[in-house]
Amino acid sequence: MLCVRLLLLAAAVGADEVRYTGAVLEHEPYSSWESGGLAILQENARIFLEHAALARQQGADIMVFPEYGLTSTNLEGGDVLSLAQVVPHPADQVVLCFLNQTSSHTQVLRELSCGAAQLKLYLVVDLIELVHCSPNQILDCPDVGYYLYNTQVVLDHCGALVARYRKKHLFLEPGFIPGDESDATAVFTTDFGVTFTLQQICFDIMYESPGLANVEGGVRDVAMSTAWIDELPFLTAPQMFRAWSAGLGVNLLVANYHNTAKGMLGSGLFPGAPRQLSSYTYDHNGGITLLVASLTTNTSTGHTTRVSRPRKDLLEDGKQHEGAQQKPQLQDMVFIHEDLSRYNHLLLEEAASSVTASLCHNDGLCCNVSYTFPGNTSMTGHYMLLAYSGLVEKGGGVYSMYIQVCSVVFCLSDEVNSCARVEGEDPPLASSFLLQEVSGMFGTLHVFPSVMRRDLTLVSEHLWDFNSIPLSRDQRKTVIHVTGETGPLLSVTLMGRWYQRDLV
Ligand SMILES: *[C@@H]1O[C@H](CO)[C@@H](O)[C@H](O)[C@H]1NC(C)=O
Ligand SMILES: *[C@@H]1O[C@H](CO)[C@@H](O)[C@H](O)[C@H]1NC(C)=O
Ligand SMILES: *[C@@H]1O[C@H](CO)[C@@H](O)[C@H](O)[C@H]1NC(C)=O
Ligand SMILES: *[C@@H]1O[C@H](CO)[C@@H](O)[C@H](O)[C@H]1NC(C)=O
Repeated sequence: MLCVRLLLLAAAVGADEVRYTGAVLEHEPYSSWESGGLAILQENARIFLEHAALARQQGADIMVFPEYGLTSTNLEGGDVLSLAQVVPHPADQVVLCFLNQTSSHTQVLRELSCGAAQLKLYLVVDLIELVHCSPNQILDCPDVGYYLYNTQVVLDHCGALVARYRKKHLFLEPGFIPGDESDATAVFTTDFGVTFTLQQICFDIMYESPGLANVEGGVRDVAMSTAWIDELPFLTAPQMFRAWSAGLGVNLLVANYHNTAKGMLGSGLFPGAPRQLSSYTYDHNGGITLLVASLTTNTSTGHTTRVSRPRKDLLEDGKQHEGAQQKPQLQDMVFIHEDLSRYNHLLLEEAASSVTASLCHNDGLCCNVSYTFPGNTSMTGHYMLLAYSGLVEKGGGVYSMYIQVCSVVFCLSDEVNSCARVEGEDPPLASSFLLQEVSGMFGTLHVFPSVMRRDLTLVSEHLWDFNSIPLSRDQRKTVIHVTGETGPLLSVTLMGRWYQRDLV
């Protein structure tokens, strides 16, 4: 098998955009221990490659798979070690498909390497990485003689292992140790001319390293594998992914684990440029979902190198699943709810014509909302403005992070913890509450915007925009401006992260 891995670098002349086609797979992995660990890995790898072939037929250049997508999260049922793979160092660019001898700890990675080369498709896969160590030689080597990492790897279009990222921010994952490699190990440049950062295995998205750090270093395309547990009102999967991508202006390709009983679902391709539609799925009954969409990267702002490659396989405009949305069945959904009782909150009163309300909290955070709310007897419920600056706990109190939030949220009563309780509710078709703008004076630079309806669909990017205006070194005004008819809103949120103030 001959595969050219030579990058033809050319100066960026004229065009400053590269267009490529991304794919993500949402899937509930095979998890039965009946035939052992290797059978779990091989069955999931088979499902990966079957869908990778479909994605390639639709022109995909790169495809992302979910966190734990190869192993499932059912790690208690058998010997975790039998699920672990030994990952070569990316600097060695090993093509595992060429190896004649494989152990059960390289076999599945080898099968994926052969699949990537055969399909000529970049594969981004999350797996359990096995690293042997010697308790005599390394001080913190466990007695069992190995470490396990939650690791994302990239197999290029020739099957070579070209990048590896070991998850740094584990979320209640006993048995794993956090990665400590430089953020640069998560960066790779493709033969279609786009530089990506791996990153964001799930909970990482709440932190700076490695994704945000690499984005601030100029990378504009991010591949995320996740098993995200939904939390209302601010952190449901597509809402959070859209917010992160829009807040930073980067393309985010996210593949999520599908397990609705645990509140895990929602994947997509979220473009960084303003007013480009996301392609995402958030379907309770979805099971396995493949999304393919084309994305554009601005090479003059980024880290990107231009390369030449014949492009016969590009999707036509409009052929992709742009804005693909499935309405979730709220009756069956499972959510964690953030405790809002420490938030400052203000009930928004009815107003026949446009009014502005304001609310402040700690650290100089002040939020404004402009709206009209003529009132309507056929509509139940209330809207509140929420303001909060301070620490919040995640993972049942194990993690503590500093946030700043300005949000307008739908609530069942005038009690703040009745906000964003949608389970079992029938979303209305219309609402007399019309939002014009939510703005906030933030102390952090990192503010992420989201606009979500009561049926948990995202409001189209054509109907709102986001601005972030620095006022001084430590203050910025950020604004969500709604420009069209959105339908009944659940949560319109500016979510700031103040990483330096986290409790560690
Ligand atoms: C694998 O086996 C083939 C055929 O026996 C041989 O030509 C090739 O050199 C071997 N590759 C490696 C890496 O040992
Ligand atoms: C790309 O970025 C440059 C520099 O910020 C900007 O001038 C240009 O308009 C951008 N092009 C596109 C197509 O967005
Ligand atoms: C009241 O709400 C219903 C639907 O819930 C809508 O059809 C009607 O136009 C609304 N009336 C006013 C005055 O907003
Ligand atoms: C909120 O409104 C007040 C009064 O109009 C204004 O002074 C302030 O700048 C506004 N703040 C934001 C964040 O828009």
